[in-house]
Amino acid sequence: MGHSLVFMPECHSTNDEASRLIQNSNVLEGTVVITNNQTAGRGQRGNTWISEAGKNLTFSILIKPSFLLMKDQFYLNVAFSLGLFDYLSEALDAEVKIKWPNDILVKGKKICGILIENYVQGHNIQHSIVGIGLNVNQNSHASVYATSMSLETGNDFKLEEVLPNLLVFLETRFLQLRSKNFKKLNDDYLASLYWIGEKHLFEKEDEIFEGEITGIDPFGKLRINVNGTTEYFEVKEIQFLK
Ligand code: BTN
Repeated sequence: MGHSLVFMPECHSTNDEASRLIQNSNVLEGTVVITNNQTAGRGQRGNTWISEAGKNLTFSILIKPSFLLMKDQFYLNVAFSLGLFDYLSEALDAEVKIKWPNDILVKGKKICGILIENYVQGHNIQHSIVGIGLNVNQNSHASVYATSMSLETGNDFKLEEVLPNLLVFLETRFLQLRSKNFKKLNDDYLASLYWIGEKHLFEKEDEIFEGEITGIDPFGKLRINVNGTTEYFEVKEIQFLK
C-alpha cells in the first residue's frame, strides 16, 4: 500500500478524488490519494469530516477486494479498524478501542474515522475506497469527544513518517483478510471493541435503553443483550449514549 501515491495540496474529499481516479484509469491496487487540505471531507451517516489544513492525515486507499463476497463486506471495516488499532496502540502507548463499526477511540475520545465505499459487481466487491481521517497534530477540536496523537502524547509527529508506518499495519490486516483469516480478524476485533461486556445506555428512535454489547453478527450488525433478549442493530439505527 502506498507504492503509488497521488498528492493533492487541496481537494474537497480524497474519497471523491479516488473514485474519479478509478473510473478514469487502470489504477494500481494500494494507491493512496492524500491531501494537505481537505475542504469538504465526508464522514459516516452523511456527516462532514473537518480537519485543520496540514495537521492531520486525510487520505484514501484504493483496494480491489474481488475475493470478498458482498455479504462479507463488513470485514473490510474489521481489517482496516484493526490496522489503525494496531498502529495507534504501538505509537501511543495508551488504551485504544474500536467503537463499532469503525471509529477509533483513545481513552473514549475519537482519534480516527474511516469511511469505506464499495463498488460492487455481481456478488463481489470490484473495488473499495477506504477513506481515513486520522487526527495527528491538531490540538483543538470542535468536539470535546475528539483527540489527536499530539494531544495524547504531548509530541508532534511527522506526517510523512506516520503515513508509511500506518500503511504497514493496514496492509498486514488486509493480507489477513485476503487469506480469509476471518476467525483471527473477528477475535481481534471483538477483543478491542469499545463497551463490549459492559452495561451501557443506547438510543434507538428516541427510546433509551440499557444493554450489554455481546458481539457482532456475520454481517456486522451489533449484538446487544437487552433485558435478557438478544437484539441486533444496524449502523444507522442506534446511538451510543453513556
Ligand atoms: C467518520 O468517522 O464519519 C468517517 C470519517 C472519514 C474521513 C476521511 S478523511 C479522508 C477521506 N475523505 C473523505 O471525504 N472522508 C474520508
